[in-house]
Formats: sequence, structure tokens, C-alpha cells
Amino acid sequence: MSLEPFSPPTGEWYHPDEELVKNTHVPDYDALYQEAMTDIEAFWAKQAEALEWYEPWERVLDSSEAPFYKWFIGAKTNIVHNALDRHTKTWRRNKLALIWEGEQGDRRSMSYWRLWQETNRFANVLKSMGINKGDRVTIYMGRIPEIMIAMLACAKIGAVHSVVYGGFSEQALADRIEDAQSRVLVTADGAWLRGGIVPLKETADEAVRRSPVVESVIVVKRTGQDIHMEPGRDYWYHDLINLPIASTKCETEVMDAEDPLFILYTSGTTGKPKGVLHTHGGYQLYTSTTLKWVFDMKDDDRWWCAADPGWITGHSYIVYGPLILGATSFMYEGAPTHPYPNRWWRMIEDYGITILYTAPTAIRGLMRFGDAWANRHDLSSLRLLGSVGEPINPEAWRWYHTVIGKERCPIMDTWWQTETGGFIIAPMPSVPLKPGSATRPFPGLDVDVVDEAGNACAPGEDGYLVIKNPWPSMLRTIFGDPDRYVEQYWHRYEAQGWYLAGDSARKDEDGYIWVIGRIDDVIKVSGYRLGTAEIESGLVSHPAVAEAAVIGIPDEVKGNHIEAYCILVADAEASDSLVEKLKDHVRHEVGPIAVPTRISFVDSLPKTRSGKIMRRVLKARALGLPEGDLSTLED
Ligand code: WT7
Repeated sequence: MSLEPFSPPTGEWYHPDEELVKNTHVPDYDALYQEAMTDIEAFWAKQAEALEWYEPWERVLDSSEAPFYKWFIGAKTNIVHNALDRHTKTWRRNKLALIWEGEQGDRRSMSYWRLWQETNRFANVLKSMGINKGDRVTIYMGRIPEIMIAMLACAKIGAVHSVVYGGFSEQALADRIEDAQSRVLVTADGAWLRGGIVPLKETADEAVRRSPVVESVIVVKRTGQDIHMEPGRDYWYHDLINLPIASTKCETEVMDAEDPLFILYTSGTTGKPKGVLHTHGGYQLYTSTTLKWVFDMKDDDRWWCAADPGWITGHSYIVYGPLILGATSFMYEGAPTHPYPNRWWRMIEDYGITILYTAPTAIRGLMRFGDAWANRHDLSSLRLLGSVGEPINPEAWRWYHTVIGKERCPIMDTWWQTETGGFIIAPMPSVPLKPGSATRPFPGLDVDVVDEAGNACAPGEDGYLVIKNPWPSMLRTIFGDPDRYVEQYWHRYEAQGWYLAGDSARKDEDGYIWVIGRIDDVIKVSGYRLGTAEIESGLVSHPAVAEAAVIGIPDEVKGNHIEAYCILVADAEASDSLVEKLKDHVRHEVGPIAVPTRISFVDSLPKTRSGKIMRRVLKARALGLPEGDLSTLED
């Protein structure tokens, strides 16, 4: 399998079916793009009319303190009003908001009315625990309906949620709790995965021991195994929502459009995770508009975004975007291959899923098992497919298109980031596709590929991906660290006022953008974004390790896997059993996704004279490639 994501045979175009184009929300991308760019603020103001606002805005965009942009200044709103409250007053109260299947085969579904009531009950619980507007609540759970309810309940009362992906472990969770200063943690006893239990509560207990700011822990009973409940600190979710205080009526907090909605931690260059901050007003507009147009969301669709709610994809396109549109979403708890590799395809047939949105790594993982597992099932309900998280290689694209989409379903390859809140480069069903390219910018966005000095790169030339104008769901800052926000995203092209995405890319002669990969010390493993520094500090926290460096190596299924190089302390002995111990240690401290596939013990690491590890040299050596410029190498 070729891992070259950005060089499909030239001229490989996929033209959409005319019938499909005619019936989409946006039959003419070019016209809409033109309209948007003529007056970006007027364009967003017009789209914002699809939402309800408690009070209108005075101005659409305030750039006076750029890069601290503000959107819909003066407007009063709450994202939950648009995601739930307003639907309970229309026919949608009876529509299914969520259809859910557990890994064990158990099923639940919830109408908009029910989801609204459950959200209100839990919102009242949080209030009674003293959670007020602006307070942070950390949520650490598997893919169960309660994760959605917990997020919505926070937003409803103006609290700021910080969801930590259930695949993270003790130290990663502790760091994120500490940074957010959350007094309440919402978790579950466990999560079902591959037929086993992920012991979420056990991990949470250790994290809370390390970050004692947490005063109360609310525990959803999911798996039912014995867990420790700390008296006076831990409460069962089902006990709380059955208290009289947990009524099904709860006022929605009136928020300023720019009030914080959530913090979501993502990896960057240093070990400290970045708390990306999003707000109520612009985010609700951008997530719903992008979802409606890119995936042509209609009332009779059954939408399945197979991501985890704990990542931005889940925040924007499982929780907020679909609910604002009043769509029906499907959510599945477990692993795609449990108990057999037909699990996803069986569920698409069972539930009549019309749109599937997933990651290349999942596609490659399922493709490995061959076509027969998919061919057993009737997948004719599907009309659109989507991809996100990393470049999709042509083989995976073709398999997805042929075996899953039966050559009927266009694939929407969406490029975006935790920081952008929503799709930035993405086609719409009317846009001709080139496998491997996320195609062109969303209307209202000026995206380019430029060199170091900011000059536009010639077609086919590699450069830095930049966004040249603000958009409604852009991150507002890094929680507690505005300097890092400026430094990380706005410093490089300060003179021009452009946002630096951190990816390298190229544009072709048709203006299509091909994203190549990260330019910083971030590794994409199975679509998850991991910082080398966080994994390295996980390794070094083991007493046998003095120093560590990790790199990403291309991998057929995961996109990349992690390889680690460790210098041991003087009295530690290199052995196979130590390798296993270190893997286990990383699994515990950071999480299973961060575990290196290979660990090598070395006597030294290539470093610059200022002591920075030159990971690119390690990587070149590992891949047997030329080592490039070594002039800054110390030794
Ligand atoms: C990074 C952002 C956006 C939700 C999931 C990831 C890479 C994302 C694509 C795509 C090529 C992609 C980029 C980006 N990426 N989508 N369609 N084609 N690369 O969010 O964890 O913040 O990661 O994912 O490198 O910078 P994230």
C-alpha cells in the first residue's frame, strides 16, 4: 500500500451525479464562494438568521484587538437554546435526536424532547453542586448518551465543559483537570471496548489523587463492575438525577455570544497540552452551517459521525452541529471489529444510515479484513461519505468509494482542526473531487499555501498552510495562556495577520489544496493528535529512563506509529522486559494511543547545540533516508 497521500494519478477526477447535485443545499459552490467573499460579514450575518438569538448583535466582527477577534458583538444567545430548547416547540420534539447502540448490543434512542429533559435534569444537578456560569467541568467518559447530556447540561447553565477523551490515562487526565481547575468531574464506572472494560473510574481516582482540585465526582453506571466510591466525594449519576432537585425544567442561561462554551485540550509542541477555547455565538453558527452544506444534511437523514465525542469532531459534528440542525444522529459505543469486522456495516444496514463520516485510519483498518464483510450487508441507504483527521491515501479512498459507497456516494474529505472548530477546506456534494485532496476552502474563508516570507507558492510547490481571514468558530485563545495563542498561531505571519495552521500543503493548478502533514512535533496516530513531548515525558517519568525521544513512522493502518529512543539511567539494564514495562508505563500515564510500537535503547540522541532533540535526524535514520542539513547538530 502506498502511503503517499497527495499524488494521485493526475486527471483523476470524480464528478458528482447531476441528480444528486440538483437536490443539494448548495448546487453551485463557486457562486456561493463568490457571494461570501464579496462581503464576509454580510454573508455570516445572513446565515446567522437561521438561528435564534435572545438579543441581536450590534456588529458582526470586531478586529480591534486582533488576533483576539470577536464575533456577533452584543448578541445574547446560548448554543443549547438552538440545539435543544427551540426544537421542543416544533414538530421536532418527536424527532429522534439520538440513536445509540452499545458494544454489547444494547440499544437506546432519544427524541429531542427526551434529550432536552435529560439535559435539564442533569443541568439542575450541576447547579445544585454549586456549578455556576464560567465554572469548568471535566467530562471523562466513553461513547454513551450521557456524555452528550453532560456537555449540553454544562452549556445550558453557562458552565464550560472540558471533555477529556476516554483513551487518555492518569497523568494526561490529571494535567487537564489541573489546567482547567475543575471542581467537578463527570465520569463512568467503565466503558465497553473490544469485549472488555476500560476502567475509567479507576483512572479517574488516580487522576483526582494527583489533581485534588476536584471536589465531586459524578459516576454513570455503565459497565456495573465493582468500583471504589469515595464517600462525600463520589455520587452515582442515577441517584442524582432522581433527586427532587433534578426537575425536567431548567432555565437556559443567557450568554454573551463571546462567552466561553468549552475548552478542548490538544497537543502542541511543548509537553503542556493546549486548552483550545471556543465560545457560544460564532461556534454554533459555523458548525451548523458547515454541516448543512458540506454533508447536505436533510431532515430525513440518519447521520453517523463515528468519531469520539471527546475530540473536536465529536463536539462539532456529533453534539452541536447535528442538534442545531435538528438532525438524527447515530452513536456507537465500541470497537468497529467487535465481535466481527462487519459490525459497522451491519449497523449501517440496521439503522438505515445515510451519511457516514469517519477517519482514514478506520477505513484502512476495516479494509484489511477484505470486501466480504461489507458485501454481506445492504449499504444502499448511504448517500454520502466523509473523511477527516489525516490525508486519505488513494487506496483507502477507492475502497471506501467502491466497496462502501458502491460508486454512488461522493466522499467529503474535510480538513480542519481543534482550533478551527469546523470544516475549513472541504468540498460539497456539487464539487468535483480528486481523491486525497480536501478540495477548496469553505465559503467565507481565504486559505492559501505560502512560503517562509509569505509569498504564495506556485502550483505544486510545498509551503505552509495559512488562513488569511477570521471565521466565526475560530479558537479565541488558549485557556489561561493568551501569549501562547499569539505565539503559536499568529506570530509567524504577524505582519500579514494570517493564521498559521501548522500543516504543510500544496495547491495544484486547479486551486485544489493537498495537505501533506504537520510541520511541528505533533504526530498523528490513527487520526489522534499526539505531542512528542507528552509521550516523552511519560517515558521519562519511569525511573529507568533518563532521556527519551519519540518519532512518527509511516504505518499502513494508523497513518503513523510511534517509535521511541531512550537513554537509560546508569544502573538500569536494557532488556525485553524493560521494553514491556515502559510500554505499560506509557499506557498508564498517557494512554493506550500513545504507546510506542518500538522502543530502542541508545547511548545518545542527536541534538542541536542548544540541546533540542533533532527528531528529523532520528526519523531519517529510521527510514534509511538522507539525514539532511546537519550543521546544527552538536555531535
Ligand atoms: C490536524 C488537526 C479536525 C478534526 C480531527 C483532527 C490533520 C485533519 C485532515 C484532512 C489531511 C487532516 C491536519 C490538522 N487533518 N483533517 N482531511 N486531510 N489532514 O483534529 O486533532 O486538531 O488535528 O489533523 O494535520 O492540522 P486535530
